[in-house]
Amino acid sequence: MDKKISIDYSYTYPYIDDSKIENYMDEVKKAMNTLWKGTGSGADFLGWRELPNERLQSQELSKIIEVGNEINEKADLLICVGIGGSYLGAKAVLEALSHPFYNYLSKNDRKGPKILFAGQNISGSWLSAVLDEIDKVDSVYVNVISKSGTTTEPGIAFRSLKSKLEKKYGKIEAAKKIITTTDAKKGALRTLANNEGYRTFIIPDDVGGRFSVLTPVGLLPIVSAGIEASKLLKGALEASIYGKEEDISKNPAATYAMIRNLLLKAGYHTEILVNYEPALHYFSEWWKQLYGESEGKNGKGIFTASVDFTTDLHSMGQWIQDGQRFIFETTLNVVAPISDLKVASDKEDLDGMEFLAGKTYEDINKKAMQGTLVAHYEGKVPNMIINIPELNSYYLGQLIYMFEQACGISGYLLGVNPFDQPGVEAYKKNMFALLNKPGSEDAKKLLDEKMASMPSGKITK
Ligand code: PA5
Repeated sequence: MDKKISIDYSYTYPYIDDSKIENYMDEVKKAMNTLWKGTGSGADFLGWRELPNERLQSQELSKIIEVGNEINEKADLLICVGIGGSYLGAKAVLEALSHPFYNYLSKNDRKGPKILFAGQNISGSWLSAVLDEIDKVDSVYVNVISKSGTTTEPGIAFRSLKSKLEKKYGKIEAAKKIITTTDAKKGALRTLANNEGYRTFIIPDDVGGRFSVLTPVGLLPIVSAGIEASKLLKGALEASIYGKEEDISKNPAATYAMIRNLLLKAGYHTEILVNYEPALHYFSEWWKQLYGESEGKNGKGIFTASVDFTTDLHSMGQWIQDGQRFIFETTLNVVAPISDLKVASDKEDLDGMEFLAGKTYEDINKKAMQGTLVAHYEGKVPNMIINIPELNSYYLGQLIYMFEQACGISGYLLGVNPFDQPGVEAYKKNMFALLNKPGSEDAKKLLDEKMASMPSGKITK
């Protein structure tokens, strides 16, 4: 039988203790029930809970696999266009499960197209570089992803990509290489897809962007890269089964949500997700968005940060060891490495490292992790460890689902709606007013007044 991921929260003691856990248990169970029964705020966005189950059996999965395989075989380059939840899930899974230098490998070794991302920023330099890549290869596909279909960043990136593809292939051929992932009925992207005859995948109404990696949003790019979607979904399904476990000691999602909220109550309001595998860098980015956007509202929420160790032990290590004390860490421990090798022997030993010769890099990495855990614990940084048996599709599926479920529970424990993001609108409103978007005249006036009353002139000469 496959093992499951586990949460070791030993190193969070004495900042929390058994009596605090005991006293909090009823609240945690209540939050779990609210989530499972769908009686809390944001209950219209709970579709992610059943995704692994539905997707595993759906015809849509077959369609995703069919189109994904087509891209995998025919494309030299796939450009994924999207931002936030319409980008980070796919990016996280691709980075976690692909060769570290995937895009640099030969086509044969890669076993899939090069994959680039666009529309996750408004940088002209970034987009120009992506557009240049289109000239270098024969077959380019674009997957434009936006649930609302109205988001500025992917919207304006897609304008340039569409025009470039139409110049390269002609309108009719370009339309065959553009795939949209959007709402079933609403939004400009839906209208565009209908008008241009693009193939389209639907993002379910009841799944919010940052919970959508197990919909076509994440699955189409993932399958296009040659990764088996079914294994990811099986892992998620397994996590959804043990996520229903009422005994919290057997339920990693509930345990994780409970411990981080107890640490928050103890004054630890910043959580740093730590990894020792560079492949998990973008997983942390996905996690930061999931929790940051879900919990940071109404003056509440744990601030989410991340580091890649041991790399960042040489940049942020000092601060974590010795700076202000309001942080806790959650360490992702991949138990078995994907591949490994031994440190070479050099009898001259000028660097004094011969004592490491013959040891595997994984041995050393694990010792670095253990040493860091103890050092940071001594430095008064509480630590949770998430043990992941291996970094493969199955366990990544478990981890994704576990974090999504824990995010729902944690949001309810905090007393916020974890499934909305009203704060994201503020910058958009101002940006549109500054760009004189039709209809934003009143907002522009208001903004001009606000800007006039903002502090100014404090600038170096
Ligand atoms: O989690 C969310 O809802 C957001 O991060 C969205 O995914 C992001 O804003 C992109 O939205 P859309 O898919 O509508 O373009």
